[in-house]
Amino acid sequence: MTIDEMAAIHAAAFDRGRPWGAAELRELLRTPDTFCVEAGNAETGRCFAIGRVAAGEAELLTLATAPAARRRGLARACLAAFLAEAAARGAAEAFLEVAADNAPALALYRAAGFRRVGRRERYYRRAESAPADAIVMRCAPA
Ligand SMILES: CC(C)(COP(=O)(O)OP(=O)(O)OC[C@H]1O[C@@H](n2cnc3c(N)ncnc32)[C@H](O)[C@@H]1OP(=O)(O)O)[C@@H](O)C(=O)NCCC(=O)NCCS
Repeated sequence: MTIDEMAAIHAAAFDRGRPWGAAELRELLRTPDTFCVEAGNAETGRCFAIGRVAAGEAELLTLATAPAARRRGLARACLAAFLAEAAARGAAEAFLEVAADNAPALALYRAAGFRRVGRRERYYRRAESAPADAIVMRCAPA
């Protein structure tokens, strides 16, 4: 997937927050220990995730499926690829943050084995509403 495709999916996915542009994504992927996994193709539509592993801990930095390709298992596949890559890079545990009102993502992560370990209040700024809390989730990748 090209960086421009990722930026387009990100912009469509995070309409309530500030999307990451192509330059920002390129910069992020240049950071040591950061990696990208993807699922789908031009016909089905695509999903991508960006993760990082440092000191035995993996972090899911972002995950998004193109709106027209949702509910076909692409995010589930991408999350599995993220966890496999995290384990291959030596991570013993994986963490992520998700908005408390993001029911689809919470269901996805729970089904993949992530469990809630914390909450950060008013973590996500929103252009047109009050900030949303972040739920911190953890799972063991292996
Ligand atoms: C959350 C998101 C990544 C899910 O992508 P997807 O490719 O549609 O997800 P999948 O088809 O792989 O779904 C896997 C499971 O997640 C859960 N799920 C996904 N979308 C759901 C929804 N709208 N409502 C309830 N559960 C949902 C279900 O358990 C689903 O399994 P099922 O279809 O067998 O019931 C997608 O909705 C998205 O890009 N949202 C905007 C960006 C975002 O919120 N990213 C995560 C932020 S941390």
